[in-house]
Amino acid sequence: MKTTVTLKINYLLVPAMVVLFGAVLVVVRQIADRTAFEETNQTARLIMAAAQATFDYTVEQVNPSLTAKYDFLVQSVSAYAATETIGRMQHQFHDYRYHVAALNPTNKRDLADAWEKNAILTLARDGAPAEVSEVRDLPNGRFALIAIPIRVTNGECLTCHSVAEAAPRTMIDAYGRENGFGWKLNEVVAAQVVAVPMSVAQERADLLFRGVMYMLGATFVALLVVANAAIYLVVTRRVRPLTRVADIVSKGHLETATPGLTGTDELAELGRAFERMRISLGLAMKTGSQAGAGWPLRAATLDRLKATLAADLGPMASVLVDQASAGAASRQQFKERLLASGPDRERLQQQLTRFDFDT
Ligand code: HEC
Repeated sequence: MKTTVTLKINYLLVPAMVVLFGAVLVVVRQIADRTAFEETNQTARLIMAAAQATFDYTVEQVNPSLTAKYDFLVQSVSAYAATETIGRMQHQFHDYRYHVAALNPTNKRDLADAWEKNAILTLARDGAPAEVSEVRDLPNGRFALIAIPIRVTNGECLTCHSVAEAAPRTMIDAYGRENGFGWKLNEVVAAQVVAVPMSVAQERADLLFRGVMYMLGATFVALLVVANAAIYLVVTRRVRPLTRVADIVSKGHLETATPGLTGTDELAELGRAFERMRISLGLAMKTGSQAGAGWPLRAATLDRLKATLAADLGPMASVLVDQASAGAASRQQFKERLLASGPDRERLQQQLTRFDFDT
């Protein structure tokens, strides 16, 4: 295929755009995923904060007022309050989950699953982090999980969680004496676990990602179209006639004028330079054809001249003509040499003037 300037520029432009597009794609994808992750985590933290607030409120306000009046009411239990309150959000946000998970729970619904158990054990270790967080792929999608520890911080907890004998009778009646006992002071016995689906934030991030990429793609395509139009308008469209004229002139038709000489850019300058060259070439060829025309003289012409001059000079004429013609480079020089060599310059001059060299 014939390569053109347009093609060459496109060969540079298109790969450059593809590489740029790829780079932007990778970066934007990362940012979008990162944003989705942070947003999900932020939501999880918000739920956790609400749960913790319920915990604290129950311990600080509900529990004292209830225990003052009643022997035991489950509504005074902070873990229960949080599970009941925050757990209700699931009615509206089905995929979201809040769970108070314990290794040895009083209420069976609080039993930790495998991941939660692991989290509790991790949080219970010395020098454990303040929270355990992980993104997990579950059958119903991707989830960001956060777990924070529940520690037996004061002796009051042990009334109901150390031995069954110490716990209120009504509580034993309701929960039995088997589970939720044997906890120790300062021990991490459970964790609050929040699971937030990544899908919500991820869908938004994907939407943003696709939007940005489509826009970028469209921008690149538009740029390519503009670049091609610019190359055509600024270069191709003006070079083509210049080439055509150069071609015609190169074949000897010097009278064809160069087009597109107005303007100040490089191509206009090139056109003007070419036009000057065309004119100079024309002049050179004109003078050239004048200088070289009729030289060397044909043998017949020389013979005619010898015969003409022989009338005056006799056989000398032939010698003089041959000598003058031998060293001359043009008709003019030949005449001068002949005049210089002849005996009667004046007369010779007249004869030469009358002599027709061109028939
Ligand atoms: C008056 C008795 C009582 C006291 C005091 C008490 N709890 Fe409980 N706790 C319970 C009962 C009953 C449940 C089960 C509630 C339910 O049905 O969800 C429970 C549940 C829990 C749970 C959820 C896991 C499980 O066992 O089902 C945690 C964690 C917990 N308590 C921690 C504490 C801590 C920490 C304290 C001290 C700040 C404390 N409790 C004080 C009675 C008590």
